[in-house]
Amino acid sequence: MTSESKLQSKSDLVGRHIQFGWGQLLLFLMLGVVLEAMHGFKIGWYLNAGEETRRMLLTLAHAHGVLLGIVNIAYGLTLRGLPGMASATGRFESPLLMTASMMLPSGFLLGGLVTYGGDPGFGIFLVGPGAAVLVVAVGLIFRAARKARS
Ligand code: HEM
Repeated sequence: MTSESKLQSKSDLVGRHIQFGWGQLLLFLMLGVVLEAMHGFKIGWYLNAGEETRRMLLTLAHAHGVLLGIVNIAYGLTLRGLPGMASATGRFESPLLMTASMMLPSGFLLGGLVTYGGDPGFGIFLVGPGAAVLVVAVGLIFRAARKARS
């Protein structure tokens, strides 16, 4: 790969994570607004006794969605701030971080949209693997950041 195309692919990676992160933040902020509205209009589907599982899962989807959006923005800015990092990173970290950022909040969301009594819907099965992928992605990002500084 020439140094020019390396630079190009680095700025693609930076832009991709920053754009993805802002998009995700927007989406899950809007979920926060929907949750707020369900409080305002006292929607039983969300607030009734017996719906605690749904409320907890939708709140978790909102919280993890907004926070992972911010994590993606931070990753994009980290690549820009630590120039040595992009050469050692991006091959695995970038797709793993994006995959986890989709799996984790959508698992909570799907698990909360359809519940079975006190049990979450089947979407919840995305959460465990999503968390594992996130741990690996963040571990690799940490390693690449350390390498870039040495
Ligand atoms: C970056 C911005 C935001 C972050 C990091 C964030 C994070 C969180 C977190 C961590 C919780 C869980 C709190 C708890 O249960 O102890 C939460 C709950 C909540 N958020 Fe946000 N939030 C953000 C923006 C918003 C916005 C803009 C709205 C809507 C106007 C909103 C509406 C809500 C509501 C209604 C709950 C409570 C849901 C419930 O318990 O029924 N959030 N948020």
